[in-house]
Amino acid sequence: MENREQWGSRVGFILAAIGSAIGLGNIWRFPYVAYENGGGAFLIPYFFALLTAGIPILILEFGVGRSKRGSAPLSFSRLSKRFEWLGWFQTFLSFGIITFYSVIIAWSINYMIFSFNLKWGDEPEAFFYGDQFLNLSDINGFNFGGIQWHIFIPLIIVWAALFLIISRGIKKGIEKLSLIFMPILLILMVIIVLRAIFLPGALEGLNHLFTPNFDYIVPWGSNPEWGQVWIAAYGQIFFSLSIAFAIMITYSSYLPKDKDVNNSAFITAFSNSGFSFLAAIGVFAAIGFMANQAGSDVSEVATAGLGLAFVAFPQIISEFPAFNEFFGVLFFLTLVVAGFTSAISIIEVVVSSIMDKLKVSRAKATAWICLIGFLISLIFITGTGLYFFDILDNFINSFGIVISGFLELILLGWFIKLATIREENNLVSDFKIGYWWDIMIKVVTPIMLLIMIILNFRNEFS
Ligand code: PHE
Repeated sequence: MENREQWGSRVGFILAAIGSAIGLGNIWRFPYVAYENGGGAFLIPYFFALLTAGIPILILEFGVGRSKRGSAPLSFSRLSKRFEWLGWFQTFLSFGIITFYSVIIAWSINYMIFSFNLKWGDEPEAFFYGDQFLNLSDINGFNFGGIQWHIFIPLIIVWAALFLIISRGIKKGIEKLSLIFMPILLILMVIIVLRAIFLPGALEGLNHLFTPNFDYIVPWGSNPEWGQVWIAAYGQIFFSLSIAFAIMITYSSYLPKDKDVNNSAFITAFSNSGFSFLAAIGVFAAIGFMANQAGSDVSEVATAGLGLAFVAFPQIISEFPAFNEFFGVLFFLTLVVAGFTSAISIIEVVVSSIMDKLKVSRAKATAWICLIGFLISLIFITGTGLYFFDILDNFINSFGIVISGFLELILLGWFIKLATIREENNLVSDFKIGYWWDIMIKVVTPIMLLIMIILNFRNEFS
């Protein structure tokens, strides 16, 4: 316990935490979720979820990691022997994410290279799903379809890079990477946004994104599904801040004992949201441009997720007035950098849990985890990959996150002395948190999550 590795500086720790938080979720998930759920009005449930769940849980997880100084299973078991399984459950969820997250980073590397000659041509959609890239038609009953070798190569690179960074440890690996990658990420994003907002039609796109539709988020409004908007806000906050995934506990377990955590939680949360807004502006300005070129309405061209990054964006890049290739490379590089720092945090979680439990060396744990993770991720580069992707994504986002968050809050809120964590955090922070925090952790957020769990089950099985 005494020999635990440590961050070299508080800045290093905060940048690593922000690196985990900022990822694909900010660039392709947030803009669309906001747009679909009331545009500007979505910010109300979003900030509500940030203040009631996001920040309080970050403070909680940072506090637990800092004081218990162990991977998630070890930290939970130090709180109470009976809690260890929750750490493993969260570690397992994280591991589930990395198997396909790594594949999306690999695709982004492919597309970064395609950008050099706009290889997707005039039909980016057919290119992406067809036999040139995903090869979805290569499915035949239980035959998964072969491995797509053009994705195999970048995938190997991703896993090799993950191995190299994680095996170097906290200070020399993760911290160093974050100190370099995070400023680069911000610069890349700023360049993209500055270019995007001057494109013809950009304002139209931003109008669509930000025009508040208050009617949409309240029970007495026009949207009978208004509850879904609030669920979407909570889901976005959990996924985006990487909370209830064992990650923030693990990262803070490498903090020196006397380091502040309350302020760090606020800084992490607001940087993450800030980056999401920046990305949303860039993405919607670009979508406005696309609608403008096609002479159609923004609502007809706005899409999310895979379609946004690998179909809409290639098309936008092709239609750019100048320097298409350059901006193509820039956009996909941004995805790679943002995704990679999140992927790093996931591998660290698993490695750290295994090291603590089995007392093996970092090198050995990392090698095994990366090898197993790599082999599982191969499923997602076969012709049926997208099918498994949907199942896993749905499982983690609809059930995994909320259940994990709910269990964490109930166990830590009601079965140990929660106030002790608050007092310990306050001892090392100039920013003192008050009793409001206990109320969020014990009452407000669990109730919201319970409602979400019930609604999700109802949706799934009705
Ligand atoms: N927070 C990351 C994102 O927004 C995703 C992530 C989730 C990373 C869970 C680690 C764990 O993309």
